[in-house]
Amino acid sequence: MFIFICLCLWSLTGVFVADAVKSESVTEGESVSLNSSFTQIHTQEEIQWKFGDFLIAKVKKNKESVFYNKSAAGRFRVRLKLDHQTGSLTIINSRTTDSGLYTVSRDTTINTINLTVYAGLSVPVISRDSSSSSSSSCSLVCSAVNVSHVTLSWFKGNSSFSSVSVSDLSISLSLPLEVEYQDKNTYSCVINNPIRNQTRHLNITELCHKRAGVSSLIIGLISAAAAGSLLIVAVVGIFWICRKTDQEGQVKSSHLYLYSAFYNADCVKAALH
Ligand SMILES: *[C@@H]1O[C@H](CO)[C@@H](O)[C@H](O)[C@H]1NC(C)=O
Repeated sequence: MFIFICLCLWSLTGVFVADAVKSESVTEGESVSLNSSFTQIHTQEEIQWKFGDFLIAKVKKNKESVFYNKSAAGRFRVRLKLDHQTGSLTIINSRTTDSGLYTVSRDTTINTINLTVYAGLSVPVISRDSSSSSSSSCSLVCSAVNVSHVTLSWFKGNSSFSSVSVSDLSISLSLPLEVEYQDKNTYSCVINNPIRNQTRHLNITELCHKRAGVSSLIIGLISAAAAGSLLIVAVVGIFWICRKTDQEGQVKSSHLYLYSAFYNADCVKAALH
């Protein structure tokens, strides 16, 4: 009975050890150290690192490390380093394609590390959706491009009220928001993956009123131009009338003619009436 319990405990422990997969997460471009969990390598012991089924590195205490560049389709090239004392493996300048299962073995002991390399996050972009903006509300959209494993959310103050997520690679992810022009709340759009986040604060005044400002400027310019052309038409008209009435005018040159038209003040006065 006692032996049976012992055997059971032993096998349970065995199962537990084999299933204990540690997780590591890192952002693309950063270096990551995969801990071998061996405090010391003893002389003559050989440490092996595998990525999936590929042998990628081997080391014996105080001996040169050997890296297998051709395995794993040469993806690591010169980006691996091994600690000769502990056998820990460092991946320099990590890439999203480095994500996967890494196993380190010393004799019969095997440790497994599940590495996830997340793509870097850029700050999301908030833009005005002028196609659906009305006179009472301003339509906005927060967007992010080329993302995977992220959530995009709108926050009002400190609480999120709408969000959208993708797990696969997505060309473009966007989330709409409608606000009143007078809304005084603080809104922000946040993109996050399990380890990082980036925030863009919304400035309603700048985004929702800017275009209105530009269009009123354009309207102003157009009215100014219209008023200007009316004035020119009026002046030309007066000259035209005055030329007809100025029968004694001897002067042919147009400059002098204009002068003489103004000089003929009675005519201008008459035309204005
Ligand atoms: C963003 O990350 C910081 C830590 O980097 C954390 O304090 C904050 O709560 C996160 N914000 C969101 C909205 O996830």
